[in-house]
This record gives sequence, C-alpha cells and structure tokens, in this order.
Amino acid sequence: MKPPFDLSKEEMKAYGYKIIDILAEHFDTLESKKPVSSATREEMDAVFLQEAPNEAMSATEVIDFVMDNVIPYSNITSHPKMYSFVPGPSNYISTLADTLATGFNIFSGGWIVSPAAAELEIVTMNWLLKMFNFPVQEGGGIFTSGGSMANLTALVTARRIKCGDDFSKAVIYLSDQAHSSNIKAIRVLGFKKEQIRIIPTDLEFKISFNKLKNAIAKDKLEGNQPFCIIASAGTTNTGTVDPLDEIADICEKENLWMHVDGAYGGAAILSEKGSRVLRGIERADSLTVDPHKWFFQPYEIGCLLVKDSSWLSNTFSEKPEYLRDIEGNESEINFYDYGIQLTRRFRALKFYMSIKTYGLDAFKKAVTYNINLAEETEDILRKSKNWEVISPATLAVINFRYNPIGLNLSEEKLDKLNQEISARVLASKEALLVTTVLQNQVVLRMCLINPKTTITHIRETFLQCNAFAKQVLKEWEC
Ligand SMILES: Cc1ncc(COP(=O)(O)O)c(C=O)c1O
Repeated sequence: MKPPFDLSKEEMKAYGYKIIDILAEHFDTLESKKPVSSATREEMDAVFLQEAPNEAMSATEVIDFVMDNVIPYSNITSHPKMYSFVPGPSNYISTLADTLATGFNIFSGGWIVSPAAAELEIVTMNWLLKMFNFPVQEGGGIFTSGGSMANLTALVTARRIKCGDDFSKAVIYLSDQAHSSNIKAIRVLGFKKEQIRIIPTDLEFKISFNKLKNAIAKDKLEGNQPFCIIASAGTTNTGTVDPLDEIADICEKENLWMHVDGAYGGAAILSEKGSRVLRGIERADSLTVDPHKWFFQPYEIGCLLVKDSSWLSNTFSEKPEYLRDIEGNESEINFYDYGIQLTRRFRALKFYMSIKTYGLDAFKKAVTYNINLAEETEDILRKSKNWEVISPATLAVINFRYNPIGLNLSEEKLDKLNQEISARVLASKEALLVTTVLQNQVVLRMCLINPKTTITHIRETFLQCNAFAKQVLKEWEC
C-alpha cells in the first residue's frame, strides 16, 4: 500500500510551483491590493464550517479554495499603507527560507540532531550580540516565536538568577507604557498584583525616573525584594525609549536585573540616529528584539539576548534520561537548554539567509529610511493647519490628531472625530490607521517600519483623512 501522505514527484512539483507562482505574484503586486479586509464570524462560518472530511480532495482544488476564501480575508501586514500596530514588512528570501526549513522539517532543539541549525543560531546570535554591544564570548541568546515569548523567557531567567526558588517578596518595576506582554509574562510567572509596580510616565512617555527611584526605596524600607526593572526601548504607543543609562545605573547600584523590551525599537540600533537614542541598551542584562518586526522577517521570530549564556542554561536546563544520548559537549549548544521549547522550528535560517542575500547594509538603509520617513511625516503635519502632532516622530512612530486651527471643538468631539476618521479609512480598506489613547486623547498612530512605504503613500492617506474629516463635520452640522 502507498503511504497515505505520499504524492508523486510530478504532483509535488505542480503543487509547489503553483504556490511559488502565487507568492511571487503576491510580492510583485502587493501595492496594487487593498491592505485591509474584514469579515464577520457569521460570514466566515458560512464559508468554512464543516465536519472534517473523510474523503480526499485534489490538492489543486484545495489551494484554489484557499486562494479564493482564506487569503483574501487576511490583512496584508506587509502592505505600504499598513500603518497600525507594528506592521510585518517581511521579505521574499526569508519566506522561502521558512519553506526550506519546514520542507526539511529541521529540528532546531539539539546539536546532535541538526548541528548546522544550532551553529547558525549561534552565528546569527553572535551577529545580534555584536550589534547591541553585548559580550560575544559570555553572552548568548535564543530565537523565540516572538517578542511576548522573549519577554517571558527573560523574566523567568531574571527571577531564577536574582531570587532562586523564593520569590515571595520579589518586586518588579515597569512603566505604564510598557508592552502588555510584560504584564502577561509576570502573571504567567505567578506574581501577585502586590508584587508589580506600574510606574507612571512623564510628558514624553518615558518612565518617571524619580517615581521609579521612590518606589524602589519604599519597597526596600518595607522589606520587599526589588529584583527587576523592565525598560522599554521603543514603546508600542509612541516609540519612546526609557532613560536606559539611568536605569542601568540604578540596577547596578541596587543589584537589580535590567530587562530591556526592544521588541520593535531595538532594530533602530542599525541606524546612526537610532543607536544614539538607544544609548545604554548595551548595559541591559537581557534584551528582547523581534526580527519579525523591524528586521523585516516573516512571522514567527523573536529573540532574547542575555549578557551571560549560563543564566539561560541555569534556568532552563533539564536532563531527562530520554535526551541522554544527544547531550553532546558543552560548546555544542542544545537550544532546548536555553528556553522553554524542546521541539523548535529552524528560525535562524531565514535570518541568516536574508542577511547573507541582501547584506546587512540593506537592513541599515531600510531602518534609517524609516526613521527619516517618520520625521518627514511629522514635518508635513506641523506645516498643516488641520493637524496637531501629539507625540513626535520617534523610532518611526508618530501620533497626531485632526484638530484644525480655529475649529475649537471640545475634547470629547475631537476624540469622536478622530475615531470616526480612523473608522472611515478602515471601511475604505485603503489603509489601516487605527487610534490609540495618549494622555486621555484619542489620537491616530503611524508605525512606519515598512521600507515600501513612501511619502506619497502617506500624503494620499492624509488627503483621505482630510476628506473624511470634512465629511464628518458636515454630517454633524445637520
Ligand atoms: C514593545 C513590544 N514588546 C513586545 C511585543 C510583543 O511581541 P509579539 O507580538 O512578537 O509577541 C510587542 C508587539 O508589538 C511590542 O511592541
């Protein structure tokens, strides 16, 4: 009997070429498509809801069905007008690298199973360590599924190294602008609400250093054990970088772990401007960066870097008898000893192949371009009578709102107007431009980390926003 999942070589080629043709077409015509799509649960249920089919169907029919019904109902996160959340610009080489890694089903857990996969993770990790001025010899790191898992891995390590088994008095500090994945990680770790200090931010959205110091001093007086500060290197809302050098000073003085969440903003180290803003990042004990954001990789690849790789193995290493035979020697790293996953996909391959193919200079140029593009966008907004900049361009993020000079709307009306502009842009499907809230104001936010986005795209979106704003104001008059 033929094994149930075997296809003939001709069938495999036909199916594979069809998918590659679709992908090449997608990358080539990306801009001509609308980035936004939407569907209700009812609409999706109507298309997909069925019992698992017992009967086979031709591979071509399945892919045609997927192309007609699945792909069109997914936002294009790599579209140049995808301004919201943190976009996923991606790149073609890494897309194929992922296909290779999956095709060969490479197990990236233990050295003996796939030495080259482990070696490539070591080598690419060294590139990253060097980029961030972390020590290459003692330092180390691991690729994760994303920033959330990197933050979780960091905090497990911080707790293990600083507190050992007893963390009943341990206290952790982060700002009210830190990414929600940090709080999620803290909760996963079983900390109680009383062990978490959310420190307010100042008018520039940086952690209030004075309030941070006060909170640490108070905790010490009360007999608590301050053990970790989470600093943001590029907050999701505004791109703000916390005062890293000052935080490093206090961590040194008080013997605290310094974790930096640079999931999206860390990549700015590739540009001169960015590396100035990120000064002090090299002093962190652990650092999250997310290659599936501003290193232009397809999902999923996050990364955690640490100053001392033994912290990871001391935290995560387990020696079950069934892994006895693949232990290897100490220099041959088993990445299952560095993090939570045992079976891991080969994430390093796409990072490696894309940097080899395009060259690091291409990445540096792209990040520099993005930072300048956000500044140019700020310039356009500041020169317009209609727009108000709420938070200036920082690491390619900018926040603004429609508030024409002389209109004198109440704050409540301004909030509604900007919300409505966003909703109408979304309904047009031409761009994704959602709101956030800064200091109680509803604002529009752009995260411009896609090198395909040009100032022309941005001007087009502003024209659209202006037209929608006038439309709304007119409707409100009647
Ligand atoms: C600063 C920051 N940290 C962490 C994350 C979470 O990363 P992921 O979505 O890859 O889990 C994000 C996501 O936007 C982020 O902006």
